Amino acid sequence: MDSIIVRGNGPLKGAIPISGAKNTCLKLMTAALLTDEPLTLTNVPRLSDIATLAHLLETLGVEIARLQDGRVMALSARSITNRRADYDIVRKLRASFNVLGPLLARENEAIVSLPGGCAIGARKVDLHLMALEKLGAEIRLEEGYVHAIAANGLTGAEIDFPMVSVGATENALAAAVLAKGTTVLKNAACEPDTVAFGECLQAMGAKIDGLGTREITIEGVDRLHGTTHEVIPDRIELGTFMIAPAICGGEVELLGGRRDLAEAFCDKLEEAGMSIQETDTGIRVARGNASIRAVDVTTAPFPGFPTDLQAQFMALMCTAEGTSRLEETIFENRFMHAPELIRMGADIDVQGGVATVTGVEKLKGAPVMATDLRASVSLILAGLAAEGETVVNRVYHLDRGYERIEEKLSAVGADIRRVRADG
Ligand code: EPZ
Repeated sequence: MDSIIVRGNGPLKGAIPISGAKNTCLKLMTAALLTDEPLTLTNVPRLSDIATLAHLLETLGVEIARLQDGRVMALSARSITNRRADYDIVRKLRASFNVLGPLLARENEAIVSLPGGCAIGARKVDLHLMALEKLGAEIRLEEGYVHAIAANGLTGAEIDFPMVSVGATENALAAAVLAKGTTVLKNAACEPDTVAFGECLQAMGAKIDGLGTREITIEGVDRLHGTTHEVIPDRIELGTFMIAPAICGGEVELLGGRRDLAEAFCDKLEEAGMSIQETDTGIRVARGNASIRAVDVTTAPFPGFPTDLQAQFMALMCTAEGTSRLEETIFENRFMHAPELIRMGADIDVQGGVATVTGVEKLKGAPVMATDLRASVSLILAGLAAEGETVVNRVYHLDRGYERIEEKLSAVGADIRRVRADG
């Protein structure tokens, strides 16, 4: 298995291009199931999660052409040849569960494996199923699979989510666009990924109002058509790379970065002492002579501080002046990076969903490993600020969501390299 070796190397300087958003692109790809016409996506990130979902869609009968070095993906679901999404793929990528709504809407039947547990939390799918049942689906759980049937098609309904769920909102949205009549989603997600998904559906002919608010209204239509849609920049990759010059000094421009996608995060980074400036080409972030101050953070659904940036922010707080309180409210087990950061000399006390982090003068390099994508990248960031060498193992987590991370960071002066398992 590959590993990544990082050495603290002083301030960073230069520019990093931000790729298309993984979590947006994954959901956009599932929209291809809703029409027999081609859906073309541009600014597609080259990530293993994207390849995994593409493979799953191919098993359902979707023809996929990759153009321009994989940056453009043309998906054509002229006919669905298989309504069953296998456990072997769904267990590797939870976002695969989001083929359920589109398949059911198009075929009146879908059989999708339950994704199972996950390192960061139980990640139930009850809200996805509740929403589809409200739309008239009959749902049976059989041998680890969800078997959903809507013999006479789906019918619009009012769906009130007891908590905000990105995936459930998107599955419900996809199912409702082809349902008969009106659907109202209450307490819906307003993440940029969900808005982008809805906008793509609108471009395909769906009638949707209220995207980006907690109440989305959908007027079902008979059919959708193809379109071309550009994937928005990845706000989590953006936030991750904004922390790099914060943790080891310097000034970096994030090309294509948009502050409106990460406002709450940018506010916290400024509070910590960073200077952030929007430019014609992206966002410039600089530490100057400022030292980083401890800042408290509570994760929340968008527009709040994203859970997907909590681990990276914790790495930053490990060397900040003072003590910060980081509260995780979205996932029940998302502090798996804390013990690894402690191995690098960090002072962190985790009690339930709250981590108290007291900044230390210097982190020390160590061999580390992590159990999920964002935890892994927080260790890379910590390694950038540490004395000596940090070896991050289980790099496959990083490859799921960060495109060529070692190339992007070394281009701004970081000492980072990948060691291939085969030598
Ligand atoms: C999406 O996951 C993202 N994944 C996650 O990114 C992200 O952390 C999360 O949203 C929150 O922003 C993709 O978009 C592919 P949720 P999702 O449904 O949709 C509970 C990353 O690192 N819940 O909003 O699965 C759930 O357990 C990943 O890129 C239920 O209880 O998240 C969690 O506690 C990780 N029942 C909370 O809701 C349900 O039916 C929010 O989950 C659904 C969710």
